[in-house]
Parts: sequence; C-alpha cells; structure tokens
Amino acid sequence: MNYGDERPELLKYDPFKAIIAPRPIGWIGTLNADGVPNLGPYSFFNGIGSRPNQLFFSSEGEKHSYLNAKARGEFTVSLATEALKDEMNISSAHVEDGVSEFELAGLELGKPVEIATPFVAASPAAFECVVIDTMQMKDRFGNLTDRYLTFGEVVRTHIADDYISNGRFDSARARPIARLGYRDYATVESVWQLKRPQEK
Ligand SMILES: Cc1cc2nc3c(=O)[nH]c(=O)nc-3n(C[C@H](O)[C@H](O)[C@H](O)COP(=O)(O)O)c2cc1C
Repeated sequence: MNYGDERPELLKYDPFKAIIAPRPIGWIGTLNADGVPNLGPYSFFNGIGSRPNQLFFSSEGEKHSYLNAKARGEFTVSLATEALKDEMNISSAHVEDGVSEFELAGLELGKPVEIATPFVAASPAAFECVVIDTMQMKDRFGNLTDRYLTFGEVVRTHIADDYISNGRFDSARARPIARLGYRDYATVESVWQLKRPQEK
C-alpha cells in the first residue's frame, strides 16, 4: 500500500512515529521564570552534529520546556534509561507551570556547572546546553505550524563513573530507552560493532 495525506482506514493510527523508530528520548530540564525546575521527555529529539556537539528537540505546541529554554537561553538533557522509565513517564504529565516534574517523579536535582538548570542526578549521563536558536516550523505550503524547535550546544557533559568502561561510555550498561510508535518503547541492550570499509 501507499498513501499521501489521507491515511487508509486499515491503518487505525498514523504509523509515522512507529516507522521513525527507535527515537532517542531527550529528557529536557529547564527553569521557569521563577527558577522552578521543569522536566519533560521529548522523542522528537536528536543530535545535529559533533564538534561543536549540537542537538535539538521539537515541541508540539508551545510547551513549558520550549518556552523556558527560549526565555532562559539554556536547558539540560538527561539520558532516559530503563531503570528510570517510570520517572520519565511521570515527568510527561501535563501540569501547570511552576509544578516541578523532578519533584513529582521523586528525582534528585543534578548540580550543573556552566548553567543554572539542573539535570536528573540518577541518570548515567546528562548534557548542559545553551540555546543557539529557536524556530517555529512551517508546512510545505509555507504556513506556520504549532511546532517549535529548540537548538542547543553542549557546554558540559556529565557521566556517572560506573558507566565508563575502557575509556568509552557503556551504552549496554546504561540501557537507554527509545520511543517507537503507539505505546511502544525499546531498550538498548544488545550492542555490536562494525568496522567502516576503510578501517583495517
Ligand atoms: C516518551 C515521550 C516522548 C515525548 N516526546 C514529545 C515530543 O517530542 N514533543 C512534544 O511536544 N511532546 C512530547 N511528549 C509529551 C511531553 O513530554 C508532554 O507534553 C509534557 O507534558 C511536556 O512537558 P513540558 O510542558 O513541561 O515541557 C513526549 C512524551 C513521552 C512520554
């Protein structure tokens, strides 16, 4: 089958997110105008490039993470792992501005070095980021959509010592979780290597 804007009835739900899968989950920490910490998971999230290490997350609607990051010029990204899946899920609750999802989920605040925004202390890895740009998306006809991108650059990286093996971040040990479609998630648990064609 194939289709355009009109999805066939056979497909009860849009498989778009199930096909762009697995998606890493950027667990975004911000501070609101009063300095109250905010936390939320974003799977429309990814790295853009390295050196400088830059990444983005996309907000469907002007959500707190986007508004706070834009206003403060900074945010954190914590790695969402299998051990923290319930906390990650709790932090996705739609709550009023000024209610800290760190507190709701019973998560300790990790102490940032370069910026003021905390991260998830229990996470094996986290980034402190400064905002490079924000952008409201358009559709293919040039109309603005209710989708907002936040671009950031990593200014400090935190890794819990237990997760460094042979000079590398130990992904298999960290067991990051990824978003698929529907209510589905996956855990990174089997890691394997390939050499690039030019490598010996
Ligand atoms: C695993 C997961 C991934 C999510 N990814 C996104 C996303 O990419 N963009 C988005 O707008 N909302 C996403 N959400 C929903 C937000 O987390 C939710 O709306 C949350 O309340 C936003 O919090 P905030 O307003 O404090 O930023 C996701 C939820 C979950 C559980």
